[in-house]
Parts: sequence; C-alpha cells; structure tokens
Amino acid sequence: MSSISFFACSAPESSAEPVTELGSTTQALKHERQSPLAALLKLLHRKHHGHGHGHGHDCEEPEPEPEPEAFTPALAAARSGRRAGVAVANGPLAAEPIYAELVAAQFSDITPENEMKWGPLQPVDARHWEFDPADAIVDFADDNEMAVKGHTLIWHNQLPSFIDDSTSRKDLARYAERHIERTVEHFERDVFAWDVVNEAIADDGSGLRPTPFAQAFGEEYIDRAFRLAHKRDRRAELYYNDYGIEGFGPKSDAVYALMQRLIERRVPIDGIGFQGHFDARFTPSYDELVANFQRFADLGLSLNVSELDVRVARLGGSRAYRLAVQKQIYQRVAAACLAVEACDGVTTWGFTDAHSWIDSTFEPDDPLLFDDSYQKKPAYFGYVDGFMGVPLDDASLEPNLIGNSTFEAGLDGWSVMGSGTIASELAAAHTGARSARASGRTANWQGPRHDVTALVSPLRSYDGSVWVRLAGAASANTSLTAHISCAGQDPIFQPLASTAANDAGWVQLSGSFEVPSCELTSVALYVEGPDAGVDILVDDLALREVPPPNLVANPGFESGTGGWFGFGPTVLGTTTDAASGERAVIGTGRTATWNGIATDLTSRVVATATYRAEARVKIAGAASDRVGLTAAVGCAGEATRFLPIGSAMASNGAYVTVSGSVQVPNCSVTSFILYAEGPAAGVDILMDDVAFWQIDAGLPPSILANGNFETNTDWWFGFGPVTIESTTARAHGGARSARVTNRTDTWQGLATSLVGRLTPGKSYSVSAWAQVGTGSSNVNLTFQNACEGGSTNFTWITGATANDSTWTQLQGTLVAPNCNLTTGNFYIEGAPAGVDIYLDDVEIRELP
Ligand code: XIL
Repeated sequence: MSSISFFACSAPESSAEPVTELGSTTQALKHERQSPLAALLKLLHRKHHGHGHGHGHDCEEPEPEPEPEAFTPALAAARSGRRAGVAVANGPLAAEPIYAELVAAQFSDITPENEMKWGPLQPVDARHWEFDPADAIVDFADDNEMAVKGHTLIWHNQLPSFIDDSTSRKDLARYAERHIERTVEHFERDVFAWDVVNEAIADDGSGLRPTPFAQAFGEEYIDRAFRLAHKRDRRAELYYNDYGIEGFGPKSDAVYALMQRLIERRVPIDGIGFQGHFDARFTPSYDELVANFQRFADLGLSLNVSELDVRVARLGGSRAYRLAVQKQIYQRVAAACLAVEACDGVTTWGFTDAHSWIDSTFEPDDPLLFDDSYQKKPAYFGYVDGFMGVPLDDASLEPNLIGNSTFEAGLDGWSVMGSGTIASELAAAHTGARSARASGRTANWQGPRHDVTALVSPLRSYDGSVWVRLAGAASANTSLTAHISCAGQDPIFQPLASTAANDAGWVQLSGSFEVPSCELTSVALYVEGPDAGVDILVDDLALREVPPPNLVANPGFESGTGGWFGFGPTVLGTTTDAASGERAVIGTGRTATWNGIATDLTSRVVATATYRAEARVKIAGAASDRVGLTAAVGCAGEATRFLPIGSAMASNGAYVTVSGSVQVPNCSVTSFILYAEGPAAGVDILMDDVAFWQIDAGLPPSILANGNFETNTDWWFGFGPVTIESTTARAHGGARSARVTNRTDTWQGLATSLVGRLTPGKSYSVSAWAQVGTGSSNVNLTFQNACEGGSTNFTWITGATANDSTWTQLQGTLVAPNCNLTTGNFYIEGAPAGVDIYLDDVEIRELP
C-alpha cells in the first residue's frame, strides 16, 4: 500500500525558501490583495479528486500562487504539502454563520465530529439509515472546496442501540459488514480517507480493548474491517486511529506491534492517526513526538495527528501563562508533523472553545485555537508558526506570553505608537517568512507597539525581548520600552533595552521591567529611537514572567545532597555527570518504580496555592524510561495523596527537562514531599537544576479559627438553648464534625462571631458542609448583624437540602456591612425542631 501522504506535491519553491533579502528601503512592497486560500484549496481539491491511491506521484507542477500576507493554518500547512483539518459538528455549522465562515477560511479539510459514526448513522434500528446530517457536512465541504475525512467505521463508542455485549457473533459480523459496505459506498466519492478502526488497544497496552468486536472475533475483526473497506472504496486511504500513543509508552508500543502484524498480514492499511487529546501537563516533548512518529513512518505508514486539543485547566498560573504553554504545545505538534515526512497533516478536534467535547467529557477548559468569542488565541499563532518552521520557544525559559509574536499569521494585536502604519513585511524575517514594518514614522518616539495589558499583573517582573532591523538608515540607536498607564497617574515609560540597530541584519533588544502596584489601565511594549522617516522592522517579540524565588534550598547539588533524601530505599550521592555546573544528584539502589529522590517542602507551601516544578533528569542503567515529578501531600486526618506533576521520557544520553505544576489541596497540610520517580527498579535517576516556585497564591486563608471541629467546638456557641459538641459520629474532612442536638425550634443552631474578623464593605466567599440527623430537610447559613447604634438584621446567605447520609455543600457570599459591627453572628439553622444538624469544614475567605 502507498505510504505517500495525501497532498504529496510540494508547494511552490519560492514559498518554502527562507526570506533573507530585505527590499530597498524606499520601495514600498506592494502585494495585490486576493484570496490565496481559495486558489490554493482549489488546487489541492483538484489533486484530490483527480487521483486515487498514490496521488502525488504524477501531479502537475502547480502554478506559483502569490504568497499571502497572513498565513492561516491551512495555508501554512499547505506550504509543505500538509493538511490542517478540523472536526466539524452539524449543530453550530447550521446555526452560527461565523462558525461556518471560519471553518472554510482557516482549514483545509473536515472530519465530521460525530455524524459518520455508526450510532448516528443508525439511530433507530437495524433497518434504518440516517445519512442526512453527514451529507450536510459533505455538502458544506463541497461548497467550500474542502476535502472530508471519514470518521469512524468500527469503534466501541457511539454504537447503534442494537449492538452490545449480548449481540450474537453472527449478528455482529452481519451488522458490521453491512455497515462498512453501506457506509463506505455511500461516501465513496466524498471522503479521501477513513478512520477504519478506532481505539482498539487497551489503555495499559496489555492487548485488545475488550469491545464486542474483540470479544467475538479477536484481532481478526481489525483485518476484516480494513479489507472490506478497501474492497468498497479502492481510493480512500485507510487509517487506524487511537489516543495516548503520541509519545512512547506501553500503549504506543502495543499499537506499534499491532501495525507490524497488520502489515505482515498484508492488511490494506495506509496510515495511523494519533488523536492528540493532550493535557498540557503530560504532553510529550518535541523530540519524543518526532521519534515516536518516525518509528511508525519507518513501517511505511502515512500518519497524522487526527484530533488535536490541549487541556490547560490543571496547569495553574494566570490565564496568560496557561495560554502561553498551550501555544507552545500547538506549535510543537505542528512542528513535529513537519519534521516527519510521512506526516500528512494535523486535524484539530474543533477550533473554538465555544464548542469542544472537552467541557462535557472532562471539565470546563479552553483547549482549542479560538476562544469562546471566536477570537484567535495564542495557540492559533503557535500552530501557524509550527507549520511555518518558526523555531520552538526555548524550553529553558518561561513560556512567551505574546500570542502573535512572529507575524506569520498577520498583524493581530499590533499597532504603531504615535502616527505611522504597520504592515506585514514579506521580504524579511528573523524567523519564519514574515516580520512587520512600521513606516511613516514622524518622530523618533514612534514605532511598532503591542498591547500586553491582559498579560501582566502588578508587582510582577517580566523579561521582554524583540528582534529589530532598520530600513532608511544604516544604523541608529533603537530601544524597547514599556508604556505603563495606571488609573489617575501620569504614564510611565520604562526602558528595557537599547542598542544600535542597522539595516544589514537583525539585532536583539532584551531587558526586564517590573509592573508597579496600581490599578493598571494599559501596558504596551513598543520599539522606538531612530529618526522620523526610518522604518523599523520587528520580529519575535517575547514577554516572559520572571519566576519568583526558587523554594528548593539546594537545587544544583554542587556541594552535596543536603536537604534531599532517598524516597524508599534509594541511596543518594552526587555525580559529575551534571546538567549544569560540576555536579548532579544520583539515586541508586532503587527497587521499585516509586523509589526516587525527594525533598521536604512542607514549610514552603500553603494550601490552595499552585506551584511550578521543573528539573533536569537523566537515567543510567537503561536506554530510556519515564521520569516523573510527584508530590506526596499529607492532609490532617487523611491518607497521603500522590499528585503527579509532570513526566518526561528520560534517556541515558542527554538530560531532558521535566516540568509541571501542582495545586496544594484545600486542607490542613501536614507534609509536602517533592520527588522524582518512575523508571523501572534498578535504573538510576540523575537529577539537576531543580526549581519549585509559586505561580498562583490560591485562596486567602479562611478567617475562621476553628472551621473543622477536629478537637473541639472552640470559637462556636449554641444559637438558642441547644447542645453542641465535636463528634466522631460523622465527619466530612478529617475525623470529626460539630453536632447540634436538643433543638426546639427551626431557628436554632450553631454560631460563631465574626466581629473583629471582617473588613467593613468587603465580600467573603462562604463554604460549609452539612448533614441532618434524620431524613432530609432544609438548612440555612444566616448572618445576624447590627451596626453600632443600628437595629439587628438577619441576612440569609444560602440554603440547601441536607440529608442524613451524604454531605451537602452550602456555598454563598457574605458582604460585611460597611460599618462598625457590634453583632456579627454567623450560624447554621433551618431544620425542623428535634432534628440534629451536623456541620463541618466551614471556610470564610475574603474575595479579591
Ligand atoms: C467525541 C465527540 O467529540 C463528542 O461530541 C461525542 O459526544 C463523543 O465523541 N476520540 C474519538 C472521537 O475518536 O470520535 C471522539 O469524539 C473523541 C475521542
């Protein structure tokens, strides 16, 4: 079978060459505005429809297309003959014009997100077929000259209701065969490829996933599905598709072995799809992706990333930080595809955070290229950069917070400080194929400007850098400046760096600045300096957080292993095989995967705050194995939690970086151990340059002294003539809760005074857990309050129905009266007389 990628004709030579020549300074670079995308896609479409398997061998030399000013994912991918596809759902496609517009404008081909799956095709019973929704997507693709990839013929999810574990072997064979025949035939002229079998391997790599198909036919069902699909459509490329196989590991190995067996048995398989549903914390490195893709390519398979999305909700840090890491990963995946010849493209599983399966399947997140309002995210620019061959962000630095740092995808986010205009510069670039040129400057303080207001916070320090080049003067002093405006104050102009720039090559300006403590109205970075009339070219703007101090006392092991200990029987020593400096730590004598190298950070962390951890690791005793950073966290009264921070495939060759972040649980923290672990027993771990710092302060501490009743009911009193106690009878967290008995009226309960603990006028988040003694009944959190000289108010905070077997959370907001409080009793009440109330884990925190 062919292993040639779908669009095998290379793009016009001129477009792939690095741009190094800068046009004469007086000559304005004029480019006709036209739609290169439409022209290009027409070309690709022609190719697709003109040839079957092996297309690309004989395609005609395409006419050179004019280079666009701004690359979309489709155009950027097409430069190297690759696809940037997108999964599309019929609902928003029909309902939201902007959704359809962006699909057509940004991507080269479509995968129906659900409409071609077996269940949706046979939603009623075995006799009925429903092709309309899938046909609607095909029609849309046709109208917009986009190709369609079929997804998916045999999968254990979204099956018709008449297929389950009890379906007989005979029926299963009959139904599956008819489904493949009918479906492949129906879409024969419509799809260029099929995901024939989806997710057939178990997550632990131990063998086949126990689906009805595997249980009935063993591995042979896979062969049969491919052979039958091939019989019904000789032109469509046939793929195996799976997740969690993008890097190395047991599952990836198991799929690799499956591919080898299929090829051995001459099953007509063309390629493999790596779904690419990533959690940013555990995404393989560029090197790992490339090496893993390459081993599949070496089997003669074509490959693609088929369902890319990148979850960042668990990353911690500011939104700007999370989106910056996400940008790196999108760029990394596109670049990894670019690096492997057999990779024919990448498909993202949707494109807007407004419609992603992640929110309902995992938790709310923002995994895609466009935000909820269809605006381009940093990920979008990173994705385009990846296809454009822009070098990856330096992994030893904090991620670049700037979304559009390279101009490959246009001028979004850029303007000119003062007068003048900014335009895409097609004739010169520091990286990729584009830079930006500010021209028409009428004073030396004017120049290209990027707004960074949403990317920075008061009292934090940042490193900024940019590459510049001049046109219109041989050399001139040029500066990078931060323009900071605070409400009610004169603007601040803070210089980051100055140097002599010239018209012969690119020079870098870099320096740092601190954002003052004020109410920020705007922050921008801009380049200035040369005389009026001189054009300034810029490229590769970077803005990076300066990390706060490292909380690890001995991060480099230069003078020993002080502050570190072996986790398990591991023996620690130092080695001169260091990532930096003279020494690193080495952990030997490991007898289990969880053994490793640890340090106690209990006194350095606080509950609910998020920390970033990073280390350089290497192994000895095996060629490669995975090393993870883990936090073992003790919370009062609970079993130790082991929180994975991040992992990387380490080798015995060079050091690799392992990094990630961890949020300390909302509990009374009794211990926090950071350690490196993971490789097989007997393999030594080497580690160097460990960093651990806070990236998010988390919630402020609760203002209550005793909210968990672990030893007594101090600070609390009975509201009304009741009895209160700390009891082990029931507990939400820890071993005890508070119990109120002998209640003779609904308003009676358990109270604490907040007088002296609240700041007048401030808002507080309130959370508490409640049960009742019997049955179920309503309970309330109430605030009895009086200002000096005023009357008493009863302010209801929140209520919920509590029961006698599970804990119910009460959550609400308390606003402190803007006065001198003389009464401020916070209490729980509401259950009928005679019903006991249990209360636990009460937390009241000031809101920002
Ligand atoms: C998902 C869709 O995005 C959801 O809308 C649907 O509810 C479930 O399936 N792997 C696959 C895709 O191969 O078909 C899945 O798509 C996501 C995981």
